[in-house]
Amino acid sequence: MHLQTFLTFVGLLSPALAQRILPGAYIAEIKNTNPNGFLDKARSNGIKVRHRMSLDQETNIFNGISFDLEDDTVENRAKINSWGEVISLSPVRLYDAAAPVASRVTRDVARAISKRAQSGAVTDVYPPHVQGGVDKLHAAGFTGKGIRIAVVDTGIDYNHPSLGGKFGPGNKVAFGTDLVGDAYTGANAPVPDNDPVDCAGHGSHVAGIIAAVDKDFTGVAPEVTLGAYKVFGCPAQSASNDVLISAFLQAQADGVDLITASIGGASGWTEDPWALVVQRIVESGVPCTIAAGNDGAEGLFYASGAADAIGAIAVGSVNNLNSPEVLTSAKYSSASAKDKTYGFTGATGSFGSETYELYVPVANGQISDGCSGITGDAATLANKLVVIKRGTCTFDAKVQAAVAKGAKNVMIVNNVPGTIEASVTVKGVNVGMVEPETGDAWLKLVTAGETISTTFDKDAPVFITAVANPINGGSMSIFTSWGPTNEMLQRPHISAPGGNILSTYPLIFGGYAVLSGTSMATPYIAGVVGLYLQKAKNEGRTVTPAELRVGLTTTGKPLVFNDGTKNSTFLAPVAQQGGGLVDAYRFLNSQHSVDTELLEFNDTQNFHASLDFKITNNGKSVANYKLTDLSGATAYTTAEGSILAQAFPPTLLESYSVVSIEPSTLSIKPGQSKRVVVRVTPPTGLDAARIPVYGGWVSIAADGADVLKIPYMGVATAMKHATVTNLEEGFPVLLNYKNQSITTNSTSQKYPPGIAWGLALGSAIVRVDVVAVSKPETNDVTIFTDSTIGSFPGYPMYWNPRTPAGENTTTLWNGRVVKKEGDPSIRVPAGTYKFVYRALKITGRKQTGRDYERWESPSFQYSP
Ligand SMILES: *[C@@H]1O[C@H](CO)[C@@H](O)[C@H](O)[C@H]1NC(C)=O
Ligand SMILES: *[C@@H]1O[C@H](CO)[C@@H](O)[C@H](O)[C@H]1NC(C)=O
Ligand SMILES: *[C@@H]1O[C@H](CO)[C@@H](O)[C@H](O)[C@H]1NC(C)=O
Ligand SMILES: *[C@@H]1O[C@H](CO)[C@@H](O)[C@H](O)[C@H]1NC(C)=O
Ligand SMILES: *[C@@H]1O[C@H](CO)[C@@H](O)[C@H](O)[C@H]1NC(C)=O
Repeated sequence: MHLQTFLTFVGLLSPALAQRILPGAYIAEIKNTNPNGFLDKARSNGIKVRHRMSLDQETNIFNGISFDLEDDTVENRAKINSWGEVISLSPVRLYDAAAPVASRVTRDVARAISKRAQSGAVTDVYPPHVQGGVDKLHAAGFTGKGIRIAVVDTGIDYNHPSLGGKFGPGNKVAFGTDLVGDAYTGANAPVPDNDPVDCAGHGSHVAGIIAAVDKDFTGVAPEVTLGAYKVFGCPAQSASNDVLISAFLQAQADGVDLITASIGGASGWTEDPWALVVQRIVESGVPCTIAAGNDGAEGLFYASGAADAIGAIAVGSVNNLNSPEVLTSAKYSSASAKDKTYGFTGATGSFGSETYELYVPVANGQISDGCSGITGDAATLANKLVVIKRGTCTFDAKVQAAVAKGAKNVMIVNNVPGTIEASVTVKGVNVGMVEPETGDAWLKLVTAGETISTTFDKDAPVFITAVANPINGGSMSIFTSWGPTNEMLQRPHISAPGGNILSTYPLIFGGYAVLSGTSMATPYIAGVVGLYLQKAKNEGRTVTPAELRVGLTTTGKPLVFNDGTKNSTFLAPVAQQGGGLVDAYRFLNSQHSVDTELLEFNDTQNFHASLDFKITNNGKSVANYKLTDLSGATAYTTAEGSILAQAFPPTLLESYSVVSIEPSTLSIKPGQSKRVVVRVTPPTGLDAARIPVYGGWVSIAADGADVLKIPYMGVATAMKHATVTNLEEGFPVLLNYKNQSITTNSTSQKYPPGIAWGLALGSAIVRVDVVAVSKPETNDVTIFTDSTIGSFPGYPMYWNPRTPAGENTTTLWNGRVVKKEGDPSIRVPAGTYKFVYRALKITGRKQTGRDYERWESPSFQYSP
């Protein structure tokens, strides 16, 4: 009996975007056979196969092969699947580099960094390091020396002086390989070579966060050795899971201490082959850190693969407290101010090397925002720098207003700290932005009746400043994907600075970039693990992946919720932040530990009445513990009256569960452990139909000092009652072969029709069966309550993620049915048919008919 995970299509069937499957490509997990033997067997059975990758790294993790089926038919797959050595056959899926959000690649930064004065201080004052406690570990001498980290990404530009300048043994980037070649897009065949140099950018940024040694900043673990496993080509579109599996297996075989990947895609199930390989690699003792995903906008229940793999450490992002900014310097003067230097960020055009008089329109004691036009004389504005405040209307509207008065140069004064590259599309005008402080100084001078002039120099130095971000600095980045998974597992585990991060970038793209994403938070955690492993190695201690996962998660700091614009008074849900912001110093130095990273209570139907954990006192004296409950906000998954998940921010409630902790005070001798039992009563008075997700932390203090926090979470409804099919937007739909919806059976279909469906929540199994309406005697296959002629080829589809807003899965039928999964398909005769669609509910049992949602199509006449 084979575990079959077909998600395939035949003939006219086509994949939906959300499924992201590579047509015709499969991964077979095989036993007792080498890949060549498998290919030979296929060929001698008349099946045309093209070898993609051998997934047999002499490890005991996974033995298999990926291949392209030239003739991708149900028959061929059934034949392969029937061989005794085939453990499973699954389609190749595509994953994206967790795309950086709001990326800013600045060619000028290299120049800026080279001109920036060095502080000369030995202490690490790099803001993200101070934020996560890494500065204190650097002060204590930890650098990650002797630890080997595999970076599975777009490769690394090892030519970058801050990343070592060379590739190979003895260098910072000492090993690795290119599994795909520069031209790889995910859709074409990988062409491996030995050189993992980065031509896309993402991997070099990630590598710098772990290990850069630059004179202005360093990575988290500046002396670790890196391995570059390149899985994206230069277009960096996507990587297929056979490539990812191969990269992880190679890294494991190369004996690395940790594998990190800032890669993912919507999943929410732990059964995808890549997730399974990650799970097995972790079980073999190699920890894996994986980005939690950048789909925060999609709301709850949108966990990403393979961050959802059992045992992986899933990482969320926190915004840098200080946003790095690249400013060009200029000077201004007035009667009382002489040659004052200020910085601006260019938006469009160039101010060149010119001197202008400032024109500062003032309204109600403030610099005017220009939204109702600029007051002034057009004849004179042409030679002036017009100063306008940000806010109320768009940048373009302000600039247009100035241009309408003849202006050719405009400076926008920011209304929040720092500057940004304003998006201006108006042509023939030069625009920049200054910080509010500069605008305030100008306003004061103008109000005092002084005339200001400013001088630009086209060769002026560029400099980096770190501007405090009081809007959302220090809070969870709103792009972080929320948990839980469809199996009620919490992701992310822990979060780290990942929003507005300066790091290295390929020299061909300028050498440095400021990027945002869980992609940037993940290497931070990888670096922290590097420091931990170095400490353990120094102490002669071996470390399990579980110790790392538990330690990182339970030493974190829960953060208050921020909707992107302001802090709330309550803590952000565990579903968004897991353990909260990493505290690297506490992680390495805690004298206390627990044996679980999360207390997941499940939904109300599969509710764990109690969960327990063990506290261990690793200190040298008796410790007196006090355990209390710290609640995070409860979040509604869906909008009121809707079955669809709410986009960010979901409705949050200060409605808390009641938590009982037994015992809540205890004292433990050094080297000893004691067990604690936790029970929760989910919050009451909630609208269960909206799928409330509650959570908080069991906070542990030792001798009065706050030491550990274990996140707990649960779902305050029975998930089996939640609708998984997107009925709200009219799915499923019966379609004719032109993809037009069929509502009547009065016209006969010459070509087989199809079906489009969408999921409001993930579903482990979606199946479509065909019922012969006109010849009921041919319905010889019973599917729960239905007598059918057989199932739609390519179905059932397994481990389906929620369909993103606006998408659907459309599959056209090919007029054939499969009697039993894995059997060859059979052509059906002309007649009247209908389709029966079923989707398994979350927590539903595969073999229980009523655990599926059922829909039947109108009947249709099919006369080929
Ligand atoms: C908002 O909350 C974060 C996280 O707790 C904190 O770091 C930051 O300083 C707060 N910001 C403000 C303006 O209070
Ligand atoms: C029907 O939809 C599928 C999936 O979106 C697409 O591949 C196919 O080309 C469409 N067919 C027509 C005739 O539009
Ligand atoms: C058309 O559909 C109706 C309702 O489903 C059914 O009663 C009728 O038999 C169908 N007509 C044909 C020609 O199959
Ligand atoms: C399904 O998605 C396709 C591709 O995005 C789109 O063209 C089509 O209109 C959708 N079908 C339905 C029934 O919404
Ligand atoms: C919750 O219950 C479902 C159904 O029994 C199970 O599949 C899942 O693994 C459980 N999750 C947790 C975190 O206990």
